Order: sequence, then structure tokens, then C-alpha cells
Amino acid sequence: MSLSRRQLLSGFAAASVIAAAGPALATETPRWSPGLDNAPVDGFAEAGMRLLSGRAPRALAGEHYRNGPGWFRYADSATGHWFDGDGFVQRFAIEDGRARHSGKFVDTPKRRLEQREQRIVMPGFGTRGDRNAAIEGPDSMNAANTSVMIVGDELWALWEGGSPTRMDPRSLATLGVRPLRADLASMPFTAHPKVEPNGRIWNLGIYGDRCIVWRLSPNGAVEDAQIIQLPTRSYVHDWAVSERHLIIPLQPWIHDRMTAPMVDGFTWHGDQPFRVLVLDKNDYSNRRVYELPAMFFFHTGDAWEDADGAIRFDLCASANADFVTHQARSMITQETGQTPSAELVLAVLHADGRAELQRSGRYGEFPQTDRRRQGRARDLVSIVDDRAVSRLGLMNWRTGAYAEHDFGADQMVQEHLFVTKPGRTNERDAWLVGVTLNAREQATELHVFDAAGVGDGPIATWRSPYRAPLGFHSTWKDA
Ligand SMILES: [Fe+2]
Repeated sequence: MSLSRRQLLSGFAAASVIAAAGPALATETPRWSPGLDNAPVDGFAEAGMRLLSGRAPRALAGEHYRNGPGWFRYADSATGHWFDGDGFVQRFAIEDGRARHSGKFVDTPKRRLEQREQRIVMPGFGTRGDRNAAIEGPDSMNAANTSVMIVGDELWALWEGGSPTRMDPRSLATLGVRPLRADLASMPFTAHPKVEPNGRIWNLGIYGDRCIVWRLSPNGAVEDAQIIQLPTRSYVHDWAVSERHLIIPLQPWIHDRMTAPMVDGFTWHGDQPFRVLVLDKNDYSNRRVYELPAMFFFHTGDAWEDADGAIRFDLCASANADFVTHQARSMITQETGQTPSAELVLAVLHADGRAELQRSGRYGEFPQTDRRRQGRARDLVSIVDDRAVSRLGLMNWRTGAYAEHDFGADQMVQEHLFVTKPGRTNERDAWLVGVTLNAREQATELHVFDAAGVGDGPIATWRSPYRAPLGFHSTWKDA
């Protein structure tokens, strides 16, 4: 049985109907909607995961953190979009061949208010909210639900419209919202910061046709923050850096109407190009704009510069914005719909101003690359393969080789991160560590692959005695 992601997502409603019809039928159809149920209000206390198969390498020791929406509805009100659930952070700790799991909601002002009132109050990306909600600034609505990163001795839960939220990486206790600088307290900070091999952090914050470019030290202190003018408005969820440049893709999905919910104010302008703004890291006035055919994307892999001066970056691109405008809503409202697949492509920005796309013929999302090589030349990118939601794929751009593992129809795969093998430098000398939701077992599983042998399947798999929410993004911290 092979389900594409669009079939799977549009199957949420059907799965619910079947579930209501009786347990016999329900067991015959994958049921993904539990990944979008509310997580337990108190989260999951730390507990061991059961080793299902294989054996973890002794040298693999650290923590895999994930973030994603984990609370969607109260008795009489619900979020209107997958992107608006309250942030739920999970910790998978691996040590001495064993794995432990815990999870907690990010204790945001938004969540406190809504838990107290037992209803959805704040507006969100696709949620109308209460028109009388007391909004003091972006962080009043901050769901802290999109990504997570380690900065110094803190864990930051990230959203794209407001400030990071500080957490304790061991206990997952929320320490509070962290405005990066007092005079810039309401400025956005995207959920996809880029960390150079030396630890320096770059990030953007988009508002209208302007953008703040953040440069932070490895411990999170603001080294520089400048506001630049963009050549066009656009929805910028992710971006890329190379060794010398900041690369800001500007897709023709444009917020051109103030309306609630926010997502309804965007228009797809398929007659306009997909622009790419390239800035010199040392002088933002030294800029160039490239043009590619119209396409929609959420995520890039990463960028690098070749000896011929060309900048290359991979991204998962689809023909239009139907996923975000329709499908990610129907996952919550359980209406049916279709969404286009995203193809893994390599954008090539030549030194002479030309731009072109190199296609892979592979479809998926959540591209991941070796973060030791952020902005540096590399060959590999992993994706959650879209032909069947149960597959992990590893593309080699240099050779064209593609390795994949199919977990089987009951599994929904989430992004798998490159984890460096101690003392090794080759890109293939890494493990891929990630999570799946096993719908048949109603359980969350943690997997380790050897990057050099993805097709051989996981070298270790653990299972929790419960299911945790699906999520978006993750990070790894070496022990
Ligand atoms: Fe993302």
C-alpha cells in the first residue's frame, strides 16, 4: 500500500469516518489524525523507550529535540490551521544504547490565557481568534510552535512572527520570552536561523516589504541587527546562507490584504517570478536579484558557493500555495482536498546573473543537511519522501544517487537530522536520527540510520508506549 502525502492528508476526514464506524474497519486504514490530537495537558514525564530492533552505536550520545503544534481544540472552539497549535517540545535522549523521551508544552502567554479561559482567544496564521483579544504585540500571539535550537545553555522554541521562547533543555521548563534586544522587542525572528560552523547565528524577520537581518554570537547576543528593504513582499518561511552571502528566496505568494485570519490575506501571483535576493554578508547594500519561474516552497536545504562563483541551494518546491491555503486547514477541519507535491530541486545562481533549476525527480519535504557544513559545499540532503509518507530519502547531488528506506504504510516519517560521528569529517560519516508516528501501534518511534547505508534501514529503533504529536522541526545536541 502506498499513499502519497496528499492522499494521506486528504484522507484525514475519511479516516475519521471509518474510525467512527467501528474498530474493525479502523484497523484496516492508517489513522493519522491522532498526530493532530491535543497532547496530554501536562505533557509526558521522562520515561524509557523500548528498543525494538538493532543496537545504537556506543558513540552516539546526545539529545534530539523536536517542536510542533500539540494543542488544537477546546470543547467549543478550535484552531483553524495546523500551524496554530500550541508549541509542544519533545526531548529524545540517547546514551549508552538507551533512549528516553519526555515532552512539555511551551508555557507561552497565549497558552496560559487560553488554558485559563478554555477556548481559543488569540488569532493566528489561519485562526480568526476573538476580535476583542488583548494583543500587546506579536508575542501575545506567539505559539512558539515551529522549531527549536540550542543557544548557549538554553533551548529556544521558535515561531516566525515573534521572539524566541527560552526553555531549560534538561527539564523543558519554560524560562520566558526572550526579546533579543530591548529596542527591537517586537521584531520577528524566523523559525529557521542559520548557524555557521563557527557558531555565529544568522536570521531574518520579515514584515511587509522589509526585513530585519539578525546576526548573533554563538551565545545569542545580538552582534548586529539591520533593517533592509526587500524588492517585493513575499512569504519567507525559510532561507539560506553560503560562506559569503545571505540568500532570501521571494516566492510570489504575497500578503496584500489585511484580513483575518492572516492566511486569507495572501494571494498567489503565478504570473510573477520567484525572485532570489542575494546579499553580501559584509555589506547588505551589495545585492543582486535573480529570477526563476513561479513556484512555492517552505524549506531550503542549505546553500554553498562553487569555484565558478555560482551559488547553489536546494529547496522543496511545488507549483502553487494550495497546501498552505487549503490542505493544512483541512487537517484540522477535516474537510477533503488535494495538494501538489513538492519536488526537491537545486537552484543555481550563476555569477553572470542567470538562474536555473536542476530537478531531482524526487518529491518530499523537510530537507536536512549536515549542519557542520552550513554554507559550505556538500553533496547530501535527506527528505521525507512524498511518494509514500513512510519513506526517508537521501539524495546525492554530485552523483545523482538516491537511497531510501520505506518504513511501511503505517508510519508517518518526520525530519531526520545528520549527527556527526565523533572525530570524523566526511559527510557520509554521520548518523541520521529522527522520529516516526506509528499509526497502527499508536506510538512514537525513534530511529537511527547510518548515512552511508540508508537503504539498509535503521540500525536502531525505539518505541514509546504512547503517541506524541506530529511536529515540524528538530535539532540535535551532542552529549
Ligand atoms: Fe519550517
